[in-house]
Amino acid sequence: MFNKVLEYTGEYKKYTYRAMFFLVIGLLFNVVQFLAVYKMIDGAIEGADGAAYYLLWLGVFIASGLIYVMFYIHGLVLSHESAYQTLKNLRISLQGKMEKLPLGIIHELGTGSLKKVFIDDIDNMELLLAHALPEGFSNVCVPVVTMIAMFFIDWKLALLSLAALPLGIIAVMAMYKAGTGKMGDFYASAQKMNATIVEYINGMEVVKIFGRDGESYRRFSSDVISYRDFTLAWYKMCWPWMALYGSFLPCVALFTLPIGGYLVYTGASGLSDFLLILCMAFAIGPTIMKAMSFMSVLPQLKYKIETLESILSAAPLKQGSSAFKGKDNGIEFENVTFSYDGTTNVINDVSLDIAPNSVTALVGESGSGKSTLAKLLVHFYDVSSGKIKIGGQDITDMTLESLNDRISFVSQEQFLFNMSLLENIRLGRPEASREEVIAAAQKAQCNEFLQRLESGIDSMAGDSGKMLSGGERQRIALARAILKNAPIIVLDEATAFMDPENEEKMNIAIAELISDKTVIVIAHRLYSIKSADSIIVMKEGRIEAQGTHEELLFKSPKYKALWELSEGTRNWSVTGGNEHINVREELA
Ligand SMILES: Nc1ncnc2c1ncn2[C@@H]1O[C@H](COP(=O)(O)OP(=O)(O)OP(=O)(O)O)[C@@H](O)[C@H]1O
Ligand SMILES: [Mg+2]
Repeated sequence: MFNKVLEYTGEYKKYTYRAMFFLVIGLLFNVVQFLAVYKMIDGAIEGADGAAYYLLWLGVFIASGLIYVMFYIHGLVLSHESAYQTLKNLRISLQGKMEKLPLGIIHELGTGSLKKVFIDDIDNMELLLAHALPEGFSNVCVPVVTMIAMFFIDWKLALLSLAALPLGIIAVMAMYKAGTGKMGDFYASAQKMNATIVEYINGMEVVKIFGRDGESYRRFSSDVISYRDFTLAWYKMCWPWMALYGSFLPCVALFTLPIGGYLVYTGASGLSDFLLILCMAFAIGPTIMKAMSFMSVLPQLKYKIETLESILSAAPLKQGSSAFKGKDNGIEFENVTFSYDGTTNVINDVSLDIAPNSVTALVGESGSGKSTLAKLLVHFYDVSSGKIKIGGQDITDMTLESLNDRISFVSQEQFLFNMSLLENIRLGRPEASREEVIAAAQKAQCNEFLQRLESGIDSMAGDSGKMLSGGERQRIALARAILKNAPIIVLDEATAFMDPENEEKMNIAIAELISDKTVIVIAHRLYSIKSADSIIVMKEGRIEAQGTHEELLFKSPKYKALWELSEGTRNWSVTGGNEHINVREELA
């Protein structure tokens, strides 16, 4: 079960083996210490004379103590080096994996659960790699060797000192079994609580408006309570067994002392052997205890590794290994069907031909599937059936990188990283100079609000871009796209948050951005896409009509209605007063 994790140890695996070696040797010297004690007691009983004898064994005692500490520490240093290297490798490959997963799977896992896996669960592997594995191994190895030695000394006394062991092992196994049974529930409730807490914090705005008795707060408290209940239930299950093995295992003298004493009394065993076995038994007691304490965390680790494995082995997006080799920047959708949940189709058998360097607009009611169609083109998800091609090449046939190089996507929801606005824009083209970034920001009409900010373009964007308004975030995203200058541009409601004055300027910037490019625009305000080469009217995931503005006004009642509604709202927002009358007039 731990092989998967060890795979990520890579070249540092030898550190783990070396750690095991040093720990075993260290522990053996710990046993030698007890032997030295035995020698001194035995000397006293046998009447050994001379300080030299005792000094010698005292010296052995101190020296082996020092060696024990040094070797043990060095072993732990090595095992930690290997462990932290593995944690780094695990996190990096998880991140690589995440980039290739369909967004759907990532959403399904949830931010809270993912944070838990990325941070807490992977951190827990330290316990496995730095302690449970090397220390557990040496703490099992050394008692076994010592016990064999005990049998050579006096098998009767050796058996006696092992007599308490089965009781302890039964308790450990019972605990392991009980723990594993409850582990699934316990872990699931931890993950749920994590997800809810993250959601609660992200949705704080809504929570504040609708008060603490809202659904979100109820879920928050119920998840926190259920986590407490599961944790307690789990510990309650394990406590009795922990107490049992905790008292039996270290008690190696439980039978040895009374029965062994009797054997010595009757002459069946020698006093000297009896002392030696007792000393050795005391030496391995704590060692066995330590090995067992690792046993108790194994069920947890096993569960965490399985979760990690399930993410690492989730099916990634279908992508090829070749670069873009399409003949042009035309786009084809061939009978594309898509569903987010695997049951309801959000996109239904859509076939679409977009000529290179043309402007195509997607219009339609909210929820008709416009954004979904755009997201399929940028390969956030794999289609359920059908094909999407660029210049004749299937997008699943090229690498995600070469597809990303082709397309600039300004999505409806803008995300900014908490770094400077300059760096946020530079994401569009990482090698761009400062001047180029500033020029792109200017084209995207960012100057007006950048001037207001104290540090201008070097201001921080705040957590998820919270320092900026919706419209400002959109302009930053547009600047990113301008900087990237990809041959295909997808704009999803790029001017939705704009006031009319800024929108005018934005449209000028967009006009410059999209010249000589293949463009897909999604817009609610139809006048801005009136001059598009082709307008596609979407309805319930299907294409309802397609044509130029004039053609559609004539042949598509749906488009006509959308147009009139949009023109109505435009006048409404421009004229301000008497809006109701105005809208009605437009619709009449
Ligand atoms: N991540 C998602 N998971 C599940 N269903 C989704 C997801 N995103 C969108 N949907 C659903 O898919 C349908 C189409 O959504 P889409 O966002 O494509 O609509 P849209 O035409 O862009 O709407 P709008 O004009 O409001 O932006 C909707 O019914 C929506 O509820
Ligand atoms: Mg949308």
